[in-house]
Amino acid sequence: MKTYLVTGGAGFIGSNYIHYMFEKYGKEIRIINVDALTYAGNLENLKAVEQYENYSFVKADICDKVAISKIFEEHDIDRVVHFAAESHVDRSIRNPEVFVQTNVLGTLVMLNCAKTAWELEDGSYPEGKRFLHVSTDEVYGSLEKEGEYFYETTPYDPHSPYSASKAGSDMLVKSYMDTYKFPANITNCSNNYGPYQFPEKLIPLIINNALQGKKLPVYGDGKNVRDWLYVKDHAKAIDMVQEQGRLFETYNIGGHNEKQNIEIIHIILQTLQEMLPDSDPRKAHISTDLITYVEDRKGHDRRYAIAPDKIKAEIGWEPETMFQEGIKLTIKWFFENEDWMKHVTSGDYQKYYNEMYQ
Ligand code: NAD
Ligand code: TYD
Repeated sequence: MKTYLVTGGAGFIGSNYIHYMFEKYGKEIRIINVDALTYAGNLENLKAVEQYENYSFVKADICDKVAISKIFEEHDIDRVVHFAAESHVDRSIRNPEVFVQTNVLGTLVMLNCAKTAWELEDGSYPEGKRFLHVSTDEVYGSLEKEGEYFYETTPYDPHSPYSASKAGSDMLVKSYMDTYKFPANITNCSNNYGPYQFPEKLIPLIINNALQGKKLPVYGDGKNVRDWLYVKDHAKAIDMVQEQGRLFETYNIGGHNEKQNIEIIHIILQTLQEMLPDSDPRKAHISTDLITYVEDRKGHDRRYAIAPDKIKAEIGWEPETMFQEGIKLTIKWFFENEDWMKHVTSGDYQKYYNEMYQ
């Protein structure tokens, strides 16, 4: 039975990954989820698994060496899957410090604690110990020309404090692999969307605002391009890299789904119109009239696009959920989980930890 230490498992991608792993492996694995429960951490995302005997939650900051090394001392960890991070570009522009703290220093703590727990006297590592660092395509910067893609060999060129801090964390992981032969992989993924995404990010924000008849803010000219991947496909890719990837390698993960932000907004509005029954009063106010162009994000990257050729060739992973299907699944999930959105927007989700665990 393998034991996984998942960091940031109460966030968007981490919680989807935990659900994916339990659906796939059931009782064959054990998952310990360590999360500081910042504004982005929501234990309601994990209600369905919280009673599982093979799941446990530890509330701790990844920068806290004592708390993290205690987890490694108390459990024989086989796999680390490191999601925990500050993840929102707009917040990084307002307050960069916490991004460096969590993303860079927190990753260093994770690396050191895993190295200390796993390293043998001769400097080698036992078979089966693996650390996967979850990163982003934003470290590669911005593509200006049509037809260009990010490859694993593309030089890093981060522009926002968020992407710079992720680039810093990637470099630390690379340095541990090079210096200590530390058994790790890095994955750089494009923009994710799907259930449990915090409504500060484009897709859940647009769904939520449109349903409430609020303005839909479009930064700049709305023509910035992102490459959108359904989150479950990302979870599957992470598992495949950890089980089948070559150690020390980086794998790019992407959806082959490049769209301008304004196109995304039009698709969401149209899909909401199609999916809401005529009797639903919200249908009347869902219209392109809500679209509002606002001041552009500072340093706004123009285009991201991943070439997922390596992961396909070596591991056989490719995106399975096409955007038209993924956006319907996402909207359906938001329809069925209106309380989740209410709790997130009212702040009530932050009471959940106290109610459940204290
Ligand atoms: P998120 O913001 O939804 O979740 C982050 C989680 O980390 C939260 O549960 C939060 O409480 C936790 N956390 C934050 N600081 C912490 C700390 N100091 N100690 C412990 N836990 C802490 O983020 P997400 O969108 O799920 O992204 C997860 C990872 O995937 C990040 O590393 C991000 O860079 C990467 N990534 C995200 C995307 C995307 O589109 N969202 C794409 C590619 C890569
Ligand atoms: P976001 O979801 O914040 O992801 P990232 O910045 O990591 O790519 O933003 C996706 C795109 O949508 C990005 O080009 C910024 C844009 N955007 C808007 O136009 N309006 C918004 O309200 C938000 C949150 C983002």
